[in-house]
Amino acid sequence: MPSKKYDLVISNGRVIDPALGFGKDAHVFIKDGLIKKIEVDSVAIRKELKSFDTSQIIDATDKLVVPGLIDIHVHLREPGREGAETIDSGCRAAAAGGFTSVCCMPNTTPRIDNQETVKFVQDRAKTASARVYVVGAITKNIEGKQLAEIGDLVKMGAVAITDDGNYVQDPNMMRRALEYAKMFDIPVMQHAEDKYLCDGGVMNESFQSTRLGLKGAPPAAEEIAVLRDLALCRLTKSRLHIQHVSTKGAVDAIRQAKAEGIRVTAEVTPHHLILTDDEIGKEFNTNLRVNPPIRTESDREAVVAGLVDGTIDCIASDHAPHTDEDKDCEFDVAPPGMVGLETTVGLIKTFLIDKGYLSWADAIRKMTYDPARTLGPPGGSLSDGTPADITIIDPEKRWTVNAAKFLSRSKNSPFVGYKLTGKVYKTIMNGKVVFE
Ligand code: DOR
Repeated sequence: MPSKKYDLVISNGRVIDPALGFGKDAHVFIKDGLIKKIEVDSVAIRKELKSFDTSQIIDATDKLVVPGLIDIHVHLREPGREGAETIDSGCRAAAAGGFTSVCCMPNTTPRIDNQETVKFVQDRAKTASARVYVVGAITKNIEGKQLAEIGDLVKMGAVAITDDGNYVQDPNMMRRALEYAKMFDIPVMQHAEDKYLCDGGVMNESFQSTRLGLKGAPPAAEEIAVLRDLALCRLTKSRLHIQHVSTKGAVDAIRQAKAEGIRVTAEVTPHHLILTDDEIGKEFNTNLRVNPPIRTESDREAVVAGLVDGTIDCIASDHAPHTDEDKDCEFDVAPPGMVGLETTVGLIKTFLIDKGYLSWADAIRKMTYDPARTLGPPGGSLSDGTPADITIIDPEKRWTVNAAKFLSRSKNSPFVGYKLTGKVYKTIMNGKVVFE
């Protein structure tokens, strides 16, 4: 006889919920898509578990049971570039990577700069295997010339605004955006790269760009952009979020701004935490072409330190799918971006946790509670009564990154062939298994 009191129990896992400060072996009970209770093992609980049908039990022995992961920086490409990704395929990739919520960027075609496009994405996402929160554009067509109807976007459900891919170059435009966003208490997410200083650079300006003869974009392009926006944030007292931080100078500036009480948050990608521009000359792998570019070892060390000391709040993939046809070209003409949803957990475990920079609890916090706090999508915790969005991770599973197995439509990962430890075992949304 199946249990009537609960639909599902995830038993015997190591439950880690940084929001609740919980980290113990325990059982998670689910009913009607909601978390009902988390109980540590006891004679009474063992007895209760006997009332469950085997089909109602997920045995999570030797696994980690954590709140559904949240990725606040994802490109789903729909509408407009469905060959590279759709909302459906991107959400299946998200579920495979352990993400139950993603925030999607507005640089689609058409741009998400109006209510109709927000609604289109939300409608498409209704049947997807992850929750999708829309980030609207700051300016119309993300051109930086005229503000989008920010109030309308928020009314329709946009959780933040960004012109991601483009920096809002005009400081007065950015000031107005911060002021408008403040009225709705949403953050302005900034792709911080001054376009004049980047000047068409295709990699980091460094010894390596000189050696390879490729045009570089200097770290100062990011540093100047961040410093300007911190000054505007100080002026407007609005919420600013710096996307994909890649330089030591930006980390230092954000650290100092936080100490001053400026309302700034920041994210970093696995690739900026792990890779340096030394990689590019090996094979000219176009999947290493990304904006902002992967930098030098001292920048890489600085973003790791910033993540560890809390200067950088979140880990975000900047999942940016491009088709093989688009990436199969010379390095300097390849479109920037790499996929990331399906490799984030393994990369963070292998390069940050196993190397002693982060504990599992720290890493989970930066992919659950902190993204929820930063951008405001619900979730990020396993509290009683909340939707049962849960990720189960096999922390010691060894695997090799194989693009043919990606659920994303695009395969543009520079990590193909990497041997990683730590893999998503099952992903549960609303109490239902969406990936196993
Ligand atoms: O590398 C990138 N690709 N950086 C961005 O900001 C945009 C993204 C894309 O849309 O492909």
